[in-house]
Amino acid sequence: MGTTMKKTIVLLPGDGIGPEVTRAAAAVLRESAQEFNHQFDFMEFPIGGAAIDAAGTPLPNKTLDACRKADAIFLGAVGGPKWDALPVGKRPETGLLDLRKGLGLYVNVRPVKLLEPLRGISPLKADRLGDLDLEIVRELAGGMYFGERGNTTEKGVERAWDTESYSTPEIERIATFAYTRAENRSRRLCSVDKANVLTSSQLWRRTVSAMSAVYTAVKLEHMYVDNAAMQLTLRPSQFDVMLSSNMFGDILSDAAAALVGSIGLIPSASFGSSAPLFEPIHGSAPSLTGTDSANPIGSILSATMMLRDAFGLSLEADWVEQSLNRVLAGGYRTPDITEPGARAVGGSVFTEVLREEMQRTFEHAERYGWGV
Ligand code: NAD
Ligand code: IPM
Ligand code: MN
Repeated sequence: MGTTMKKTIVLLPGDGIGPEVTRAAAAVLRESAQEFNHQFDFMEFPIGGAAIDAAGTPLPNKTLDACRKADAIFLGAVGGPKWDALPVGKRPETGLLDLRKGLGLYVNVRPVKLLEPLRGISPLKADRLGDLDLEIVRELAGGMYFGERGNTTEKGVERAWDTESYSTPEIERIATFAYTRAENRSRRLCSVDKANVLTSSQLWRRTVSAMSAVYTAVKLEHMYVDNAAMQLTLRPSQFDVMLSSNMFGDILSDAAAALVGSIGLIPSASFGSSAPLFEPIHGSAPSLTGTDSANPIGSILSATMMLRDAFGLSLEADWVEQSLNRVLAGGYRTPDITEPGARAVGGSVFTEVLREEMQRTFEHAERYGWGV
């Protein structure tokens, strides 16, 4: 069926539950390749704490070089208590930041969409939750994450600083992406800032506003980040696309994840001047490591974003997502999203059940026609 697609995918499992959730994403991608006759060549490289231990640096040149040559990159998670005493700049997290920067990835999209079978696990009441389906477009290559920083000690008093700084072109390129994304969704864009206090936010707001003359079909709204956090928690369905700086986007996306019940459910995709990077938004969850209780769904949905957004394989992505919905509707649950009467399973069994469901769906669809 269809023409065969040949792609090189770099896997960066990282630390903690990173390798567990990466295995789930790879299993789904392998299954897609097998059923649809694609050739996906996987290459695995160290990053984060694993790379510090193996090579003395959180982002070895070999890893970055492989990512530069890849068609798409998948990352599990980095970081953990073993490396927590290291200073900023030498930590596992620096490996991820250097990777994003090194690949010129300035866009990070984090879709937060209610999965219907999981409506019951949201901490919000049904009427508040509505049809939650939003996207956080997070600037990924600038702001406080990459601004000037330092520390001094004067007269025995230690001081440390990080600076938030954005240029007009940096704001314009991320806003262009967000406006375009909004044009293709419900045409509502909410730009989040702190323009009542920060000069960098004032430039942000002015720049995003000026661009609305070009994107006339999009209804633009501005919101201060403190109010946005509140509105997100109170009535998330009011949002479609939310645009924010690197720092605010990091915080808002974890908060938004809580609304659908678990941070383990949320995927992300990062775009820029090179191969796109796909990663769940959660971290290495040290306390879950090795217990097979990590939820692989954020990772699996990151893989479907890879299929759809990096390779243009929408049918394959739809097939995975529909199979996933059926597995959830069948009651299978990892511990973080469990409910009374659920079929409690670990992450690896969940992935295996999904793979079987994908095979079943494929056979059915092949026999009776896709889209029926
Ligand atoms: P975390 O996301 O690892 O964990 C936060 C909470 O969510 C914990 O209770 C954890 O058990 C739970 N959780 C996370 N992923 C889950 C999953 N897939 N299924 C079920 N539950 C899940 O964040 P943290 O505890 O603040 O940070 C731990 C480490 O991860 C730190 O070193 C941090 O720097 C790093 N981190 C890495 C990334 C990344 O690699 N992208 C993202 C965030 C944090
Ligand atoms: C995320 C993470 C990272 C970030 C850390 C681990 C560098 O929290 O991807 O959300 O802050 O971007
Ligand atoms: Mn984060």
